[in-house]
Amino acid sequence: MMDLQNYSKVSEFLLQGLCKSHYIQNILFVAFSVIYTAIMVGNLLIVVTVISDSHLYSSPMYFLLGNLSFLDMWLASFATPKMIIDFLSDQKLISFGGCMVQIFLLHFTGGAEMVLLVSMAYDRYVAICKPLHYMSMMSRWTCIKLVLVSWAIGFVHSISQIAFTVNLPFCGPNEIDSFFCDLPLVIKLACMDTYVLGILMISDSGLLSMSCFLLLLISYAGILLTVRQRASGGVSKALSTCSAHITVVTLFFGPCIFIYVWPFSRFSVDKLLSVFYTIFTPLLNPLIYTLRNEEMKAAMKKLWKRQVASH
Ligand SMILES: *[C@@H]1O[C@H](CO)[C@@H](O)[C@H](O)[C@H]1NC(C)=O
Repeated sequence: MMDLQNYSKVSEFLLQGLCKSHYIQNILFVAFSVIYTAIMVGNLLIVVTVISDSHLYSSPMYFLLGNLSFLDMWLASFATPKMIIDFLSDQKLISFGGCMVQIFLLHFTGGAEMVLLVSMAYDRYVAICKPLHYMSMMSRWTCIKLVLVSWAIGFVHSISQIAFTVNLPFCGPNEIDSFFCDLPLVIKLACMDTYVLGILMISDSGLLSMSCFLLLLISYAGILLTVRQRASGGVSKALSTCSAHITVVTLFFGPCIFIYVWPFSRFSVDKLLSVFYTIFTPLLNPLIYTLRNEEMKAAMKKLWKRQVASH
């Protein structure tokens, strides 16, 4: 048993950031500032458009999309602004509390986003495979329940992770080779044997992402089978909405599964993969769902005209 009095508690962690070169960090500072602004503006625009357009707001697909954009803003904000500011400083420090908040927010919003992506796939499945029952199966109350369930699952998942991490003894090295406090990296720093705990916590994330991924595959397989049998005009439309979903899902789950399901082969690419789910997924959602979507574009134009007219 370890003598708990006998260690100096780590109160700060040292983040290594994305890279060492000053020159590249200055470029990244500019690039990520632009990307971050685009993420926030794009997603906010989706939320505002969905809420202010009664036609979109009453459609289950856009109701869920609005909520996905809301989550995306959180997912993009738990670590990215700090990373951007850190590009300019040599000492990238984060307090113990800040580190725990980052872990909590990543798993909360990430977990909720995964479940919400499954809900959106289910919505498409019902719309395409059971069109006659769509309105009754995807009622407003069902949509609200799906959103609440995604938040609840994210919260329970995240609390279960953080409850163990907060109580770990940290006394030794405090360097984290990433641009934020990533759970597997933080656990490794605890001064006790965390092998079993690490496996438990990582399989918690792995289990959540794998089961969401399987459910997604099942819904898309159902959709593709139905679409193939029908071979009518709706096919290309169904395929184009689904290919958008599948792109987002692959870019989000690919890195998560890689990091959390095979956590013991830690290459330095992990850092780059984290960029995918913290930055590129939140950026892609507005791009994919908005620019390629006529209904959304029309609603945005209407909103814009109304704003201009009222001034
Ligand atoms: C997201 O869901 C909540 C509750 O389920 C709802 O009140 C809110 O309007 C939704 N947001 C958007 C942008 O659709």
